[in-house]
Amino acid sequence: MSELTAGRAAGGEPLSGDAGRTAGESAGAADPADPAAGLVLRPATEADLDAIWAIESSVFRGEAWSLSMMREELTAAHRCYFALVDEAGAVHGYGGLLAVGAEGDIQTIAVEPHARGAGHGRRIMNALLDEAASRGVREVFLEVRADNPTARGLYLSLGFAEIGVRPRYYQPEGIDAIVMRLDMKERV
Ligand SMILES: CC(C)(COP(=O)(O)OP(=O)(O)OC[C@H]1O[C@@H](n2cnc3c(N)ncnc32)[C@H](O)[C@@H]1OP(=O)(O)O)[C@@H](O)C(=O)NCCC(=O)NCCS
Repeated sequence: MSELTAGRAAGGEPLSGDAGRTAGESAGAADPADPAAGLVLRPATEADLDAIWAIESSVFRGEAWSLSMMREELTAAHRCYFALVDEAGAVHGYGGLLAVGAEGDIQTIAVEPHARGAGHGRRIMNALLDEAASRGVREVFLEVRADNPTARGLYLSLGFAEIGVRPRYYQPEGIDAIVMRLDMKERV
């Protein structure tokens, strides 16, 4: 691992400054029968703070970042966050990257439960990795709970490799943190 902030597992003590931004992508035509359809990615800003933090606090509960930490994440230097939004502008997911020099960290990613399993998590990750590539990042790190097979499966399928374990890192449950690394040349 580097001196970089190591994502949500490390408590995410943010740097300060201005966040970099990038263009989003389209999800294609909406299917009114599918609540997860019609969602698009766009760069997140501080204006999304309340909506993102509402998801953050409900998904991560006791491990959720505070509102002020999330504000820092959305505004600090070397960060890029994307929001997954519907046609009305409501936020249903988000993800963030920290990129400094040749190293990057996936800071966090979450999709609301109703929208999971439809490819949005993969799209958020690919947007973050595209952004990392555009910033000259050559390797990306993240940490994930050992008892999170969905996220581990997603990361492995993108080319991340498991490079280490932080035993009993997540307290009070005592769940291990798996440290993963993606060599951008190995990206799937
Ligand atoms: C992790 C998370 C963002 C994935 O979002 P998602 O929109 O459901 O993900 P996708 O539909 O794009 O699926 C991506 C991949 O995840 C993996 N996956 C999905 N569901 C899975 C399951 N039940 N078991 C194992 N792997 C699974 C698969 O590799 C899948 O790719 P595939 O469908 O092409 O095979 C979402 O589950 C989430 O928000 N979880 C709670 C927050 C969290 O755990 N964040 C990660 C912290 S490190």
